[in-house]
Amino acid sequence: MSAAALKVAVTRKLPQQVEQRLADLFDTQLHTSLAPLSPSALTKLAQNTDVLAATLGDQLDAAFFDTAGDQLKLIANFGAGVDHIDIAAANARGITVTNTPSVLAEDAADMAMALILAVPRRLVEGVRALEDGNFHGWSPTWMLGRRVRGKKLGIIGLGRVGEAIARRAKAFGLSIHYHNRKPINPHIEEELQANYWDSLDQMLAHVDIVSINCPHTPATFHLLSQRRLELLQPHAYVVNISRGEIVDEAALADLIEAGRIAGAGLDVYERETPNEKLVNAANVVLLPHMASATVESRIEMGERVIINIKMFADGHKPPDRVILGLDRNRAPNA
Ligand code: DGY
Repeated sequence: MSAAALKVAVTRKLPQQVEQRLADLFDTQLHTSLAPLSPSALTKLAQNTDVLAATLGDQLDAAFFDTAGDQLKLIANFGAGVDHIDIAAANARGITVTNTPSVLAEDAADMAMALILAVPRRLVEGVRALEDGNFHGWSPTWMLGRRVRGKKLGIIGLGRVGEAIARRAKAFGLSIHYHNRKPINPHIEEELQANYWDSLDQMLAHVDIVSINCPHTPATFHLLSQRRLELLQPHAYVVNISRGEIVDEAALADLIEAGRIAGAGLDVYERETPNEKLVNAANVVLLPHMASATVESRIEMGERVIINIKMFADGHKPPDRVILGLDRNRAPNA
């Protein structure tokens, strides 16, 4: 089939230039809504297309793949995370799944670094104090945070994003610790002066700031369980820009409230909205899942979607195929 005849259905509003390019290259059905489609609308769309350009929030589970038409051959996901897609069910039906890794790693790392700085230095608390009229002049003991330089950063999942965070953190004087299924390339480890921890439990007890950067899979659900969160030192902070489901959010909120953990910087949540206790906590910075939200990354993500569809249309293997069992899709040691 020629690329121009390939039916591509997009499930969400994308940047204008990405939509234009998709429309130029393929028989594209665009979508104008900012909100996810209902499961029935998603199924209807899938039954009439060769390629579904889906994204986060589209529930592509086993039931979806059971009812999607036989002509559906490619899910070209706009986004790096694929925890909303049942990859095994897709592959069992001969459907290829692609994602958009790499292009958002640097932007996501910037935001993680912003949280690593913002929480210990009480940045948002300071802004709020000023806006609420509670700043009455400098005082030696007012609004004291904790120094970032010299602290130990423990990265759970040192992949593309984790490595980009490590580079930034090193420049800010943090020492780098990480937990993966296995150590990274020794050259990169040496360059980052990164310390590998085979035991996540031992790393958690040792570090001052934890950054969560592994994917959400069944194996990483509540990887930071209440038991593991209790291993953290009382002065430690938790930063999560990956997926909310990796942390037991209720336990995190309780431990912060009890003063057993010093604070948190979160971009993602277990449910749609954050735990009420976290919303009300002073030492917590909450963002609305915006770590990769730059104009540049969204356009580059769109370009990856287009490259994957084009390669597929031309009869080649798309470059960003999500392959079950590849290290980068697996959990670190649980
Ligand atoms: C991703 O790519 O999975 C992000 O979480 C959305 O920007």
